[in-house]
Amino acid sequence: MTVVLRVENLNKAFGGIVVADNVNIEISKGEILGLIGPNGAGKTSLFNLISGVLKPDSGHIHLNGRRIDGLPLYRRARIGIARTWQNMLLFTTMTVMENLLIAPRSYPGESIFKLTLARESVRQAEVEARKRAMQILDRVGLAGTADAMVTDLPFGHQKLIGLSRALMNDGDLLLLDEPMAGVEGAAYETMQRVVRQEAEAGRAVCVVEHNVSFIKDLCTRAVFMSNGRILQAGTVDELLASKVLTDLYFGV
Ligand SMILES: Nc1ncnc2c1ncn2[C@@H]1O[C@H](COP(=O)(O)OP(=O)(O)O)[C@@H](O)[C@H]1O
Ligand SMILES: [Mg+2]
Repeated sequence: MTVVLRVENLNKAFGGIVVADNVNIEISKGEILGLIGPNGAGKTSLFNLISGVLKPDSGHIHLNGRRIDGLPLYRRARIGIARTWQNMLLFTTMTVMENLLIAPRSYPGESIFKLTLARESVRQAEVEARKRAMQILDRVGLAGTADAMVTDLPFGHQKLIGLSRALMNDGDLLLLDEPMAGVEGAAYETMQRVVRQEAEAGRAVCVVEHNVSFIKDLCTRAVFMSNGRILQAGTVDELLASKVLTDLYFGV
């Protein structure tokens, strides 16, 4: 098993609120790790620490054996961290296609040097990005919406666009923050299928999700977090049978 993400002894607090309390996590290529826990546990904060939105107080993060906790967000995206956002953060004044074209790992058009001296390579990169975007939209069944405004789409489709935008980054690690919240019916099936396919294609995936059947269907391993601490790690079945989890999570 090739370890893609290794989080070691990670700590982070906001004043008195501890969001990461000596967190250790490993995710391997092809694996979907479930991250569960009550609201306020620190799940989104952990994604923010891994992807570079937040700086840890201490601890290390390795991606494919390379230490990344000192790198800024854009460089972590470039070396292979793709993610979705709990509140989606889609650009509401843009079309679906425009939302996707913002996301690739690197875009030579953003460099003035390349824009002036290598117009052709910039044009080529844009053609490639459009092609990739259309392939992804096709996979989620939304190729026909490329020119629609995201806000005109139903909620479940907007969530699939959020996933599609993350998939524009073909990096080895994919972080999904509550992808199923508010999603039902055909969009639910699509989300499940695409996430599974991404793992089968070799990505390491971590998914935060309250939907227990989604976790059961997709993950073999999961960790349970509360107050920034990993209280239990194991197979999904072990976790769901755990008294610690049922007491804290389901408020029994
Ligand atoms: N940037 C921030 N500044 C201060 N407190 C924060 C910040 N981000 C999150 N928190 C707090 O950290 C705790 C964990 O939040 P979060 O990581 O969003 O939890 P979860 O995703 O598990 O619901 C919450 O109490 C939240 O209010
Ligand atoms: Mg959250």
